[in-house]
Amino acid sequence: MKRERWGSKSIFILAAIGSAVGLGNAWRFPGQAYANGGGAFFIPYFVALLTAGLPLLIMELAIGKKYQSGAPTAFRKMGKKKGFEWIGWWPLATSFVIVSYYAIIMAWTFNYLWHSLSMAWSSGSEDFFYGEVLQLTESPGVLGGFNVPILIGLVLTWIFVWYCIRNGVQSVGKIVKWTVPVPIALLVILGIRALTLPGAMEGINYYLSPNWSKLLDINVWAAAYGQIFFSLSVLFGIMIAYSSFLPEDADVPANGIIIAFSNSIISFIAGFAVFGTLGFLQHSTGILIEDMTVAGPGLAFVTYPAAMAELPGGIWVQVIFSLTFFLMLLTLGIDSAFSIVEGIVTGLVDKFGWNKRKTVTAVCIAGLAGGLIFATNAGLYWLDIVDHWVNDYNLIIIGIVECIVVGWIYGANKLRDYFNSTSNVKFGKWWEIMIKYVTPLSLLVINVLYLVDNLKEAYDGYDMQYLIIGGWGVVLVTIIVGFIFTVLKGKEDTQAS
Ligand code: PFF
Repeated sequence: MKRERWGSKSIFILAAIGSAVGLGNAWRFPGQAYANGGGAFFIPYFVALLTAGLPLLIMELAIGKKYQSGAPTAFRKMGKKKGFEWIGWWPLATSFVIVSYYAIIMAWTFNYLWHSLSMAWSSGSEDFFYGEVLQLTESPGVLGGFNVPILIGLVLTWIFVWYCIRNGVQSVGKIVKWTVPVPIALLVILGIRALTLPGAMEGINYYLSPNWSKLLDINVWAAAYGQIFFSLSVLFGIMIAYSSFLPEDADVPANGIIIAFSNSIISFIAGFAVFGTLGFLQHSTGILIEDMTVAGPGLAFVTYPAAMAELPGGIWVQVIFSLTFFLMLLTLGIDSAFSIVEGIVTGLVDKFGWNKRKTVTAVCIAGLAGGLIFATNAGLYWLDIVDHWVNDYNLIIIGIVECIVVGWIYGANKLRDYFNSTSNVKFGKWWEIMIKYVTPLSLLVINVLYLVDNLKEAYDGYDMQYLIIGGWGVVLVTIIVGFIFTVLKGKEDTQAS
């Protein structure tokens, strides 16, 4: 069967940018910058981009294009042994976990679009989010029941995701023409509004004023690397899947550079929109920015909405800017969410030869089912634990393994020759040095730091039993699922026997 193809190379670039640019840019980056040295954070961030993010992105794009298959089959062909498939299945199992909670955040966003119409949180955004919307219980062990509005949002999210990728890269190609430019335009609108509000400049000061001493803290460096991986969507098997639909003559290094820098620029702009708004909130309420929640769900669903409720110009202005913000989050997140599903589906279809549309439907249903735990009243706790562990462990170890396979077993020089041969931008020997030494070593250091941290004290103060189930347990399950899919017979094994 002939392989699907992107409508054009620029559609591929758009889709890859769509995957990379997501919630990570809007709420993770500004929060990380703020917590890790403000303007000084840009140094570790760019070092991480150049020494790990970009080299890995180019590596994954080259692998996908070369082997014209999703991650598991690509690694199998690369290592010339069935066992190598596991290096592809483990990221896919990991990304399945990620999309199951990424979809929940989008479900909250759907709920907030609705609540924006009445500015329902005006009397207190914190109580509104945790109490009314999430109806959060006191501990992860108390699940409460299903939260019906969130469940409805979750079903809507999955229908949306299914719709976007039901016809593979053809439908993705049509959707990303909207889901990439629209949130960027909305972000710029929010940014301009933010910067013209009173107090905005104090917020920007918080964001950008450098605290150089932070550069001596190794955890700040770890945070920069973590941010780069999550943000670029590398190590999840997605970029391999996306580039497997590229033709032989595509220019991987040039595309990689465009994708990586667009992603960082959008993060940088998001920082202005967020901190300008926080500065305004400080100005109008007197609460200092350092006492506000400036990262994660608390930023998007508590602090930012609180600022919207303070906007001058009356309720309609507030409604319009709230809708703009949540619509931005939704369109920002959707193409990241469906890229994960597309990565998983590509892996399955390439190995088992299944019908693509049916596989899309099955994975979407499984993703919905897998995310049900997060739609309970204890959902936020589980999301927090699972997110922390899969990002700290799976992602980092996958990175190290990929570097070893490509750099040492297959040969970094061979892959570099391969992608340079169809490129106008030639990557020098430095790329090999990164993939063989610098990237895996920096990953190893970060991993050890995380391990020490997590063993030293219970993450976020949760009881150990929950960390064992939602943290280590989930990590273990993804490893096992990776093995199961590796040993299952695929279409090539059946043809061979
Ligand atoms: N890169 C996305 C973001 O920054 O929000 C998140 C993401 C998408 C992570 C796809 C992982 C992934 F596979």
